[in-house]
Amino acid sequence: MKKLLLLTLTAALAACKAQPEPIKVVDIKPGEYDPKVWGENYPREYEGWKATGDPEPAGLSKYKRGSEKGGKVYDKLSEYPYLALLFNGWGFGLEYNEPRGHMHMMDDILNVDPARRKSGGACLTCKTPYAQELQEKYGKDYFSKPFAEVHALIPKNHQRLGAACIHCHDPKDAALVIHNQFTLGKALEAMGVDADRLTTQDLRSLVCAQCHVTYMVQKDENMHSRNVAFPWKNSKMGHIAIEDIIKTIKSDPGNAEWTQAVTGFKLGFVRHPEYELFSNGSTHWSAGLACADCHMPYVRSGAYKISDHRVMSPLKNGLKGCLQCHTEGEEWLRARVLAIQDRTASMLLRAGYATATAAKLFEKANAARKDGRKIDPALYDKAKGYYEEAFYRTTFIGAENSTGFHNPTEAMRVLGDAVSFAGKSEALLRQALAQAGVSVPAKVDLELPKYLNNRGEKHLNFDMSVEFKDPYGNQEKL
Ligand code: HEC
Ligand code: HEC
Ligand code: HEC
Ligand code: HEC
Repeated sequence: MKKLLLLTLTAALAACKAQPEPIKVVDIKPGEYDPKVWGENYPREYEGWKATGDPEPAGLSKYKRGSEKGGKVYDKLSEYPYLALLFNGWGFGLEYNEPRGHMHMMDDILNVDPARRKSGGACLTCKTPYAQELQEKYGKDYFSKPFAEVHALIPKNHQRLGAACIHCHDPKDAALVIHNQFTLGKALEAMGVDADRLTTQDLRSLVCAQCHVTYMVQKDENMHSRNVAFPWKNSKMGHIAIEDIIKTIKSDPGNAEWTQAVTGFKLGFVRHPEYELFSNGSTHWSAGLACADCHMPYVRSGAYKISDHRVMSPLKNGLKGCLQCHTEGEEWLRARVLAIQDRTASMLLRAGYATATAAKLFEKANAARKDGRKIDPALYDKAKGYYEEAFYRTTFIGAENSTGFHNPTEAMRVLGDAVSFAGKSEALLRQALAQAGVSVPAKVDLELPKYLNNRGEKHLNFDMSVEFKDPYGNQEKL
């Protein structure tokens, strides 16, 4: 049955295979960064690529409204206020926005709170197509030098250029290639993947995995960035689990990138793990799908069938990609996506607030210690271990951009574990605090307005009305 389904799918995909473009106007040279030059040969793909800078239709997506014109739901810290507490202590706690279209990526990093660029040149890794070349030329300096200094090394006319044709294509024949060898190339090698045996379908996901993955900005003794690496070394392709990611992050103190203000802990971080969550045995991954099937569907353009290069949320483009396989219709599919996302959001909020509560109790325990009270070190250390497990899991699903859709069952598993670990941490801390004679109220005050309103000029108008409410109404009771 499964084989039959796969065969049908493969046949369906092959039937819509894009026609090669007939006219080659220019000879695209090796290392051609300029999409305009590529556009001479491939005008339809170029137009789609440029359109990622246009405002998107409003009101069609519930959780991903970053590119809507005038949409106020853009700031993740307003949507999930507990994040302002958890991320307090570094850039993410000051400004953390929902993604927008690819055309905006360089402008957005240049306009974000400067605290977010403190890691230096390393931050350009998932933005400019020049990252690979700069890293080859400058080695460790590429990662460690101040952001502005490394950014200035990019030719002037391309300093605002983000994801470009050359990120994903060979200039010779537009075949798919992995451009960022110093990050993804290395990570695949470490997992034992033979680069020569990757199929086109593999590459239709892996070109995205150059950026839509979690990574570590590894530090030297002076806390200067020395490398960007993916925490995949304990994993296999098709099974990169949060458990292995946490194990890798914790295996080296150089992976601790920041100090969490509330708890005082030095921690690693998890970013947008779209590739990891999707490829970890999701229904669609197991059915042989790639990112491009849903985000770059085949579309008709005049006499041609091309891949839609206006990469965006499927909810905003009529779920075109989905309809190539699912016949139930747009509204039915949209309702399925939203049902999955509402359930994920409900659990995410639960896990987030539970983790934030434990963080607040560490603050109390640390203060009690300062006052000379004795906090049982065994209980404290155990609570810290559980807390970190909860923190990384909550951050993993919170940073993943599909609000659970890419792998609904895995998202729920990870969040369920996060709730459980946070609860264990809280219980141990309550015990330690009680033993030390510190009374803790049943409902811990998270002091969220304090974290949200102390973010400088740019964020003074924090708008609580943007906050996501638990779609099932459980939040208030917990
Ligand atoms: C060079 C790095 C890079 C590559 C390669 C890349 N992305 Fe992105 N993507 C980003 C960044 C950065 C953003 C957020 C941009 C912003 O908010 O300014 C983003 C945003 C998005 C969005 C949100 C768009 C919107 O309109 O809100 C989607 C969907 C997306 N990417 C999917 C993909 C897919 C699918 C692929 C592979 C075909 C891919 N990306 C390849 C870096 C990349
Ligand atoms: C984030 C990665 C990414 C970027 C950036 C990108 N493409 Fe593509 N492109 C793809 C994928 C994935 C396919 C589908 C390939 C396949 O199925 O064989 C594709 C297909 C194509 C094809 C084959 C015909 C078709 O439409 O399926 C051409 C030509 C092409 N792209 C040109 C371009 C040009 C020109 C640019 C820059 C303006 C560009 N691409 C930018 C990922 C990308
Ligand atoms: C089966 C279809 C499907 C596949 C395969 C898929 N996605 Fe998605 N993706 C979605 C849907 C549906 C959403 C939710 C969009 C929303 O909430 O508006 C989404 C959301 C996203 C977003 C956030 C979009 C936004 O507007 O901010 C990004 C980024 C993204 N996906 C990247 C990827 C990457 C990278 C891959 C491959 C590793 C991938 N997706 C595979 C369907 C898919
Ligand atoms: C290339 C074919 C293909 C595409 C494209 C595709 N799907 Fe699927 N989808 C499948 C298959 C195969 C299954 C598993 C068998 C089944 O349930 O029919 C599945 C299962 C599902 C399920 C039930 C399983 C789950 O994870 O909850 C939902 C919901 C779903 N798809 C929605 C979507 C949406 C929304 C899109 C577009 C964003 C999409 N699909 C794109 C083939 C596809």
